[in-house]
Amino acid sequence: MPQHVQGVIAPGRNEPVRVETIVIPDPGPGEAVVKIQACGVCHTDLHYKQGAINDEFPFLLGHEAAGIVESVGEGVTDVVPGDFVILNWRAVCGTCRACLRGRPWYCFATHNAKQKMTLLDGTELSPALGIGAFAEKTLVAAGQCTKVDPAVAPEVAGLLGCGVMAGIGAAINTGNVGRGDTVAVIGCGGVGDAAVVGARLAGAAKIIAVDIDDRKLDKAREMGATHTVNSRTADAVEAIRELTGGFGADVVIEAVGRPETYEQAFYARDLAGTVVLVGVPSPEMKLELPLLDVFGRGGSLKSSWYGDCLPSRDFPMLIDLHQQGRIDLAAFVTETIGLGDVEKAFARMHEGDVLRSVVVL
Ligand code: APR
Ligand code: ZN
Ligand code: ZN
Repeated sequence: MPQHVQGVIAPGRNEPVRVETIVIPDPGPGEAVVKIQACGVCHTDLHYKQGAINDEFPFLLGHEAAGIVESVGEGVTDVVPGDFVILNWRAVCGTCRACLRGRPWYCFATHNAKQKMTLLDGTELSPALGIGAFAEKTLVAAGQCTKVDPAVAPEVAGLLGCGVMAGIGAAINTGNVGRGDTVAVIGCGGVGDAAVVGARLAGAAKIIAVDIDDRKLDKAREMGATHTVNSRTADAVEAIRELTGGFGADVVIEAVGRPETYEQAFYARDLAGTVVLVGVPSPEMKLELPLLDVFGRGGSLKSSWYGDCLPSRDFPMLIDLHQQGRIDLAAFVTETIGLGDVEKAFARMHEGDVLRSVVVL
């Protein structure tokens, strides 16, 4: 029997979000219904609401979540009802060209639920990133459920489902930060701070946090930054060079998603260094660089999609490290809120007041 639950939808471009009754079908083959316990408010949810991702309104928002598997469809063997899971938006297919080449973290044909969740009048919903977890329950592909240790609080575990994984992965998977490296992180919101955590975990010798907001820099220091630069008052490139013997950092992680911060990242790295772009630009942004500098400075310019993570490998590993006290995922949770508070959380995000607001159910 289809179930009726409450969920947060974005009805149209820039219209306020609202709580509505959602119809959840029984899971079909390869699908699972998950009872959501917590879901973080991510920038991408706001981008959906603003119509910056696509026009497929209404959206069922929320995609950074943890919960309990309630029921599974035919053929599902990896998870069973009662499992505590983090939802991911990279349920790898196993057969696309990336998967076949042994690089499933790039999977180009990830799975989502085939059936649609709807409003009471039958209007089909587009779940954010194929998840839609600002809701009491949601329908996903079973591969989107990654089982982890249930001892971790859902509001903490869920954050690995998007922003925190993106940042940690930008450092450890995409940037390949290693022991002794110098690392700079430009933009210290949730994603940038997670990159700081990842760089520290990987053994970086120096971690330089750059932001235009001193509150963010204080927090970045708590997260493991060894140096901070306020790029409103100082030249970020000069400051990073000065802190690295005049050379620049081995790896610079851009966690803002703007041309001017990308350019800083490009010039703030040492010769043959690496730039990792994990901030998401908007469609109108353009980058202009002297091609001779691109050649002459060498190294690699990489983008990090979802931290180039493989959920089944990375989520349980990071949960273990959290359990052992070697990383502190709880430090990312600024506040817990209810389903009705998402609009307010967007405003706080905009003001730079929070790393993460997390809806708990
Ligand atoms: N230079 C340095 N820092 C900046 C600049 C700038 N020009 N502009 C903004 N920032 C800082 C903000 O002060 C803030 O601390 O970047 C940080 C951005 O953080 P959040 O807004 O919390 O965003 P976050 O969730 O960390 O995501 C960062 O990654 O996933 C993408 O869409 C997301 O593009 C966004 C980026
Ligand atoms: Zn694939
Ligand atoms: Zn997200």
